[in-house]
Amino acid sequence: MSATLCENCQRQQQPPATGPGWTVHHGAAQMMLQRIEAASVAAIISDPPYASGAGTLLGALAKSSTKYQNSESKKLPELDGDSMLPEAWSAMMLSVAHQMRRVAMPGADVLMFCDWRSLSRLIEVLGGAGFQLRGTATWNKGNAARPNRNGFRSQTELILHARAPGKLARPKDVYLPGVFEYRTIQKGKLHMTQKPLELMRELVELAPPGATILDPFQGAATTGVAAIESGREYIGCESSAEYHAIAVERLQNRA
Ligand SMILES: C[S@@+](CC[C@H](N)C(=O)[O-])C[C@H]1O[C@@H](n2cnc3c(N)ncnc32)[C@H](O)[C@@H]1O
Repeated sequence: MSATLCENCQRQQQPPATGPGWTVHHGAAQMMLQRIEAASVAAIISDPPYASGAGTLLGALAKSSTKYQNSESKKLPELDGDSMLPEAWSAMMLSVAHQMRRVAMPGADVLMFCDWRSLSRLIEVLGGAGFQLRGTATWNKGNAARPNRNGFRSQTELILHARAPGKLARPKDVYLPGVFEYRTIQKGKLHMTQKPLELMRELVELAPPGATILDPFQGAATTGVAAIESGREYIGCESSAEYHAIAVERLQNRA
């Protein structure tokens, strides 16, 4: 594919990086998903930026390194899209969700991480783009998560499940748990909000074997590693140049 100019930033778009069973695009998902063939992905499993924080607008606008503080975060690049006002976040997500709807096969599953603050907005975004809402699962991060004075420990994140209208051919039915128990990664992180690989290994099982899984907000491509390891095909997208490079290296070395 020859390099063309991005309609938004007027910079040259690069062709995707590829390897056996995977293709990853560097750029904003709103633009990059336009490169993907319609009705071609069987599942979209993603962990978008939450753009929430501390329950205040000022907290939401803080840099990601302020929100996700631990000794590891200081060494890692900032995430894109995590310091936005809720309205701007919803507009960005809706534009990505319309592209997701276009590339989803009939009956394709969508699993999207969120927290309690972004849940209602994400429901509106996925519903507004034409997906049918199916429910939520909980990621229980355990007792090491941050305690809150006179309140609940920040111990859980949610996974919102939606589905494109229609029916996906499945060789066998899959029954996933409603609660996933995995500690957050403490050491050797490649991304500030990296998800545990074991958790993603469970989620990719929702896609039929051999099918294509898309992650529009791939970060360090944890979804990608889980997808490829399990014999599925993978398409990823990341807007940050640093995280795109980290994802490509990780997919090449598969760790
Ligand atoms: C929460 S992180 C994903 C982390 C990932 N699950 C992992 O395990 O490494 C979300 C990623 O989306 C990227 N991002 C934000 N806005 C984006 C956009 N419009 N298009 C593509 N990527 C975007 C951020 O730079 C960030 O790396």
